[in-house]
Amino acid sequence: MKNYKQKVAETTRFLKAHIEKLPEICILTGTGLGESVESLNISTLLEYKDIPNFPVSTVQSHFGRLLAGSMQGRRIIAMQGRFHLYEGYTSLEVTFSVRVMQELGVKILILSNAAGGLNLGFKTGDIMIIADHINLTGSNPLVGLNEETWGDRFPDMSSAYDKKLAGLAESSATKTGIYLQKGVYAGLKGPSLETPAEVRFLKTIGADAVGFSTVQEVIAAVHAGMKVLGLSTITNVHNPDAPAPASVEEIIAVAKGAAPKLETIIKEVVRNLDDNELN
Ligand code: HPA
Repeated sequence: MKNYKQKVAETTRFLKAHIEKLPEICILTGTGLGESVESLNISTLLEYKDIPNFPVSTVQSHFGRLLAGSMQGRRIIAMQGRFHLYEGYTSLEVTFSVRVMQELGVKILILSNAAGGLNLGFKTGDIMIIADHINLTGSNPLVGLNEETWGDRFPDMSSAYDKKLAGLAESSATKTGIYLQKGVYAGLKGPSLETPAEVRFLKTIGADAVGFSTVQEVIAAVHAGMKVLGLSTITNVHNPDAPAPASVEEIIAVAKGAAPKLETIIKEVVRNLDDNELN
């Protein structure tokens, strides 16, 4: 059986043969947010199912395609749809694409997700810059023998989310009249949504939003030396003192509604990147 590293190498070779120019930036979109990369000039479109070794996203509202092309003069790869632990994928499977991106030479990873708001100052449809995260999944993609060619055994996580990129997102939002929140994302395994007692716990430990993705990919990306920008769309807000059912249909609808705002921010960030950020 092929090992993980061989599979990453095989997928990288496949993509290199199909993509005109190697990407500098990867945009990874989550629930209902695939539309946020519409301004990409697409030169290659591949379905995940046609990419060797790629897992297939089993979640509704994830397209399951990889697009390569350019945006604002930068070489971009966009992954519309990600993989989650709750689908039954392992941490290594969830982060397989991040390793392929590393091998392709990607320097910046921009992730978006849908998240539940915990901070009662947040409103449905708000976009939150992820300032930091709390990994409560019980999984970590770096468990096992460390692959030294990929990164350090004990990667520093003191600034996992790049401050300059977050600053660019903030200034882009101000320029385009979009109101941005900023906060801490708690990553859970899911798929059951949070109980009111869990919501109180998450607020107590300092989380502003909660979701079932992102933290695995960010850990792998930081290990890989990439700079990370994370953006959460707040699709519902949890009030533990007045618990109300959250519907998945509503979550998807809110995420879709906020996708144009997200797209504006991503486009502006890419446009304003200076070359130093890509070293
Ligand atoms: N919890 C977890 N994930 C989510 C939520 C939530 O309330 N909303 C959107 N994704």
